[in-house]
Amino acid sequence: MHVPFLDLKHINNRAELNLSDAARRVIASGSYVLGPEVAAFEAEFGSYCSASECVGVSNGFDALYLTLRALGIGPGDEVIVPAFTFVATWLAVSQCGATPIPVEPVLDGFNVDPDRIESAITPRTRAVIAVHMYGIPANMSAIGLTASRFNLKVIEDVAQAHGAMFSGRRVGSLGDAAAFSFYPGKNLGALGDGGAITTDDLALASRLRVLRNYGSRRKYEHLEAGVNARLDELQAAILREKLPLLDADNDSRRKIAARYLEGLADVEFVLPQVPSDVVPVWHLFVVRHHDRNRVQSHLAELGVETLIHYPVPCHRQRAYSQLGIGVGELPLTEKIHSEVLSLPLWPGMSETQVDFVIEACRKAARNF
Ligand SMILES: Cc1ncc(COP(=O)(O)O)c(C=O)c1O
Repeated sequence: MHVPFLDLKHINNRAELNLSDAARRVIASGSYVLGPEVAAFEAEFGSYCSASECVGVSNGFDALYLTLRALGIGPGDEVIVPAFTFVATWLAVSQCGATPIPVEPVLDGFNVDPDRIESAITPRTRAVIAVHMYGIPANMSAIGLTASRFNLKVIEDVAQAHGAMFSGRRVGSLGDAAAFSFYPGKNLGALGDGGAITTDDLALASRLRVLRNYGSRRKYEHLEAGVNARLDELQAAILREKLPLLDADNDSRRKIAARYLEGLADVEFVLPQVPSDVVPVWHLFVVRHHDRNRVQSHLAELGVETLIHYPVPCHRQRAYSQLGIGVGELPLTEKIHSEVLSLPLWPGMSETQVDFVIEACRKAARNF
């Protein structure tokens, strides 16, 4: 048997979905950018996230970048970011001309450690970006408490956690604004790039609508130097078709994760920890092992495709060499990057495939 890492063909060709009809509806409409599909998706997704405003944009990076810009963050400002995240979180800060200030994750997890945020705050700090890594919500109440003591904005990066819950509340409604990605492999994925910002702040949402469209509210009237970062009608129609399946898909992901957790409980892997007050959505199921590369090769020989999210820490990328963060300065982050391995997981993955992966992991772990 060969188990792929992800089966996007299966996800987008299920009988419950009719993406061809959604595409045909858009083609027939003659309206292709910022039309009725985008407006309807914004209303539906905002309501799903319990946010009063939703602004569709071109991708998750632009969702973060535009949110920072709309909050007035720019050159000379500092933004606290998780040291352990996908590099887009940092790049969005850099794109505004601000400086990302990394904070280490909690010891037994992947999310930023709220207790380490305060010591990273300076008079230049303007905001904190909390990333819900792999679909497990960050500790938003602790982050929010520190942020409000220092008058900082809180932005959620929800690229990996559509539909997850923290303390009974939906992520995407827990900070000043939240940035989503609808990249095809995400829990809610388009057939190309897409993104959105959710917020309860009407003024912020209005500014975002202007910024995403050349700084314009009315055609040929440019209020500020905005960008072109619009969500298109085709992607919005696809996302509207897929949104009603998101909760069931997340349930399916949770069932697979539960099977992994049970089947791998006595294997020499460090398994992902889930805090008691969250409902995760398992965008990725990530285990840790001190000899990760050997485990990965062995799993590949056994027919199991795995990936590494992410092999190189942001602070070790050449793009961030000017920050001058030396080896060993972010030890938890470096250790996590050297040990993580993502196992296959997608809604619709069969029990036989899950059990095959478990068995392969058991065999691979016996090699040590
Ligand atoms: C944590 C995180 N933030 C931001 C992004 C950026 O999203 P996009 O690829 O849609 O620009 C991603 C995408 O993978 C991500 O994982």
